[in-house]
Amino acid sequence: MNNETQPMRIPRISVPRHPVWPALGAAEKTALKARIKTLLKERNALLVSHYYVDGDLQALAEETGGCVADSLEMARFGSETDAETLVVCGVRFMGETAKILNPEKRVLMPELKATCSLDEGCPADAFSAFCDAHPDHTVVVYANTSVEAKARADWMVTSSIALPIVKYLRAQDKKVLWAPDKHLGHYIQQVTGVDMLLWQGSCVVHEEFKSVALERLRRLHPDAAVLVHPESPDEIIEQADVIGSTTALIDAVASMHNPEFIIATDEGIFWKMKQLAPGKKLIAAPTAGEGATCESCAHCPWMAMNALQNLEQVLRSGGNEIRINEAIRQKAVVPIQRMLDFSKAQSA
Ligand code: 13P
Ligand code: SF4
Repeated sequence: MNNETQPMRIPRISVPRHPVWPALGAAEKTALKARIKTLLKERNALLVSHYYVDGDLQALAEETGGCVADSLEMARFGSETDAETLVVCGVRFMGETAKILNPEKRVLMPELKATCSLDEGCPADAFSAFCDAHPDHTVVVYANTSVEAKARADWMVTSSIALPIVKYLRAQDKKVLWAPDKHLGHYIQQVTGVDMLLWQGSCVVHEEFKSVALERLRRLHPDAAVLVHPESPDEIIEQADVIGSTTALIDAVASMHNPEFIIATDEGIFWKMKQLAPGKKLIAAPTAGEGATCESCAHCPWMAMNALQNLEQVLRSGGNEIRINEAIRQKAVVPIQRMLDFSKAQSA
C-alpha cells in the first residue's frame, strides 16, 4: 500500500475485559450516591458524563447540576460552568478535551486507563508522519484522539458536527486528511464528495455490528426504525433510517412515531432513551456472530471502567487528574476552539 491511500500500519489494540463491579444493594447504592453528592459539593465539582456510561453515573450527573451528553456537548459544558473541578465519566480523550479547554480547572476521571480504540489506533508519531507526507491537505481529526494528534490538526470534529464542517471545507475546495475512524470518514466522504485521505482506525464496539443478522432482525420488526451511529461499518449504515451522533439517535427515539427502534450503538445509550421515551421498545442491533468475543457485546469496555465506586474514590483522593504539557495544549486547543466557534456561528 502506498501513502496515498493507506497511511500507516494500525497498531494492534489490546481490548480489556469488561470490569466486574461488586453488586450494590439498594440501601448501599443510595448511601454511596449520597456520599458522592456531599463530596461534589465539598470539592466544588461537577460530573460530566457520556451517554455510554452506567445509568447511575448519568442520573447522578443530572441530579447534581452536571451534564450528560455527547462529545460535543461535554466539551462545551466544561467552559460554561464555574465549578473548580470537572469529573469526567467517559473515556480519556473526553477528560483531555475538558482540560485542554479549561486549563485552570482540575479535571479528574474515575479511571485514567479508560481509553478508546480510535485513539489507541492513531499513534502521534505515525500520524504526524502521515500529515507531513500530505502538506496540501487540511487535517481534520475526530475528538477520539490523543492531545498530540489534536495538536497536529487544523480542525477537531465530533460526530454531531463532522458533516457541516467537512461541507464547509468542500465549499473552499479543500482536500481533507481525516483521522482516525475509517467508517465515519468514509460515510462523510460519501455524503460530501470531498477529496479525503482516510486513516484506517475503527471502533471495536461499532465494528462488531453484523449486517446479515440486522437484515433478519429488520424483517422480524417491520415497524422498527433503525438508528445507527456513523462509527459503524458501511453495511450497517446502509440499513439505517437515522444516522447520527448519540444525541441525534436519542432525539430520534423521542421524536419519531415508530413503536420500536433497532439501535446500533453502545447500549449505555438505552438509559437516556428509556428516560425520554418510556413507552418505546428498544432493540439492540445484533453483534455476536461466529467467533464472538468479549468485544461483541455492544458495550465499550473502557466506558465500563467508570462506576460509582471509583468515582467516590477519586473524589476523596483528588487523584486521577488529567495533566497536559502546556506547549502541546496551546496547539491542541486551536482545532477544538475552531470547531466550537464554527458550531456557535451555525446556531446564531
Ligand atoms: P458521540 O460524540 O456521538 O457521543 O460519540 C462518541 C463516541 O465515542 C461514540 O463511540
Ligand atoms: Fe472509542 Fe468505540 Fe468506546 Fe466510543 S465506543 S469510546 S469510539 S472504543
